[in-house]
Amino acid sequence: MKIAAPKEVFKGENRVALTPLSALELIKLGHECIVQSGAGISSRYDDNAYKAVGVKIVKSAAALWKEADVVVKVRAPEKEEVNYFRKGQILVSFIWPAQSKDLLEGMKKIGVTAIAMDMVPRISRAQKMDALSSMANIAGYRAVIEAGNNFGRFFTGQITAAGKVAPAKVLVIGAGVAGLAAIGAAQSLGAIVRAFDVRPEVAEQIESMGAEFLMLDFEEDASGEGGYAAPSSPEFREKQLECFREQASDVDIVITTALIPGREAPKLWLKDMVEKMKPGSVVVDLAAERGGNCELTRMDKRIESKNGVTVIGYTDFPSRMATQSSNLYSTNIRHMITDLTPEKDGEIVVDMNDDVIRGSVVTHAGKITFPPPPPKIQAIAKPQVKKELPSQEDIKKKEAEALRRTGNQQVIMLTLGAIFMAIIGIYAPPSFMQHFIVFALSCFVGFQVIWNVSHALHTPLMAVTNAISGIIIIGALLQVGDTNIIVEVLATVSILIATINIVGGFMVTRRMLAMFQKS
Ligand code: NAI
Repeated sequence: MKIAAPKEVFKGENRVALTPLSALELIKLGHECIVQSGAGISSRYDDNAYKAVGVKIVKSAAALWKEADVVVKVRAPEKEEVNYFRKGQILVSFIWPAQSKDLLEGMKKIGVTAIAMDMVPRISRAQKMDALSSMANIAGYRAVIEAGNNFGRFFTGQITAAGKVAPAKVLVIGAGVAGLAAIGAAQSLGAIVRAFDVRPEVAEQIESMGAEFLMLDFEEDASGEGGYAAPSSPEFREKQLECFREQASDVDIVITTALIPGREAPKLWLKDMVEKMKPGSVVVDLAAERGGNCELTRMDKRIESKNGVTVIGYTDFPSRMATQSSNLYSTNIRHMITDLTPEKDGEIVVDMNDDVIRGSVVTHAGKITFPPPPPKIQAIAKPQVKKELPSQEDIKKKEAEALRRTGNQQVIMLTLGAIFMAIIGIYAPPSFMQHFIVFALSCFVGFQVIWNVSHALHTPLMAVTNAISGIIIIGALLQVGDTNIIVEVLATVSILIATINIVGGFMVTRRMLAMFQKS
């Protein structure tokens, strides 16, 4: 099939849906690729880069749409582009179907199959096509860079001859994809990072990145379906705002990313909070397109409040890093088309029984197929419901019972051992008894030591036993020249087994150390 990427017509859009590398992969799948002249120039891909991998360049958008079987785009088609559609054509693009009723109607009427990259369900199998996450990841990173550009201080703390510099304090509200990317970027620049999210399951992710999770003293789990949040109660919101109010005078940079798909952005950073912030502080509102999380945000604008706080409401962060964004987005598109080409023969099959494809297709066969049925698979497993903890009294009772049982067992074992020793002592020579008692006691002590080591520590323990193996080898080397063939054989076997233990111990230690090394 002919897969074509036009030049984006939306003003200021620098991304392109097809890079030369992705085009090459699609050609390998049996497709032909076409790109409008100059489409990749803002992403640093000129026409020659496309021609070099066998992509056809066409002059005008009209010629491109006429020839294409599949049109791949970044932004949803503008009115002028809808006129180019023809029956049976496939569109793969961001579409935002919930807010694009007219566009859906138009495409349905013409008979276009529209695949919305923003509707790819957030499940593990579809991660490679998850363009929302790719773009949010870039937006989160860029939000920190933008904040840094408007913030008059270092992120990291320093002690210099000219004085001590305190580290910047960054608060990230909403720890989804963009939020986590922002936490990572701010953390790596050396700031003190705090984060908040209504979904308690992200606390672990936040903390694993070295940031502090702001925990509310309020029992409510706002985890929704598909890895998104559910609306929180008014009481919860009040608690949340109380927490933010406390933070406002302390933090220097606030990055807000809180959003529930299909809803207006909740107002979480209110005017009074901005007023409490120090002059020179920065708020970057990634939810600006849906009304913003900050009360002062103005879409696509950078404003300064009366008390000198900069509030940034840009909605084109991915486009500000066009090469990176185009690379990731075109890879998402390439994976989507690979899934649509099951036989790798250049033929597209829209399989509505496939969960990912069904979720993304918004118009097909003359029908609007949006909204899709809810995803069957949870993106993030919900935390298990905690079992009721036993009381301190119960725990003490159980411990006493276990202690009594072990004590009884030990008395029985020791009595049996003593009887066994006495019987052997009656018949065996005294020199044997001396060695035998040392042997029996070593077995007892060794067993007690190893038995009480937790399973997780068995491997490092094995590595440490090299010292014991060394002693065994020395002993066996002294015996290996003995005239008694049995002693000789046993000594040889001991040397072999102890050597395996030493070499194995070193190999295991090496592998364990390699796990902690950065490549
Ligand atoms: P996401 O759905 O992965 O993350 C949103 C997070 O906000 C979720 O973790 C959710 O639990 C949390 N949240 C929802 N309501 C909340 C509340 N009341 N309080 C605290 N946390 C709450 O979304 P993703 O992909 O991280 O995107 C975040 C935002 O960034 C979206 O608004 C998206 O439109 C925007 N975005 C903006 C761009 C720009 O250039 N400005 C570019 C790309 C994304």
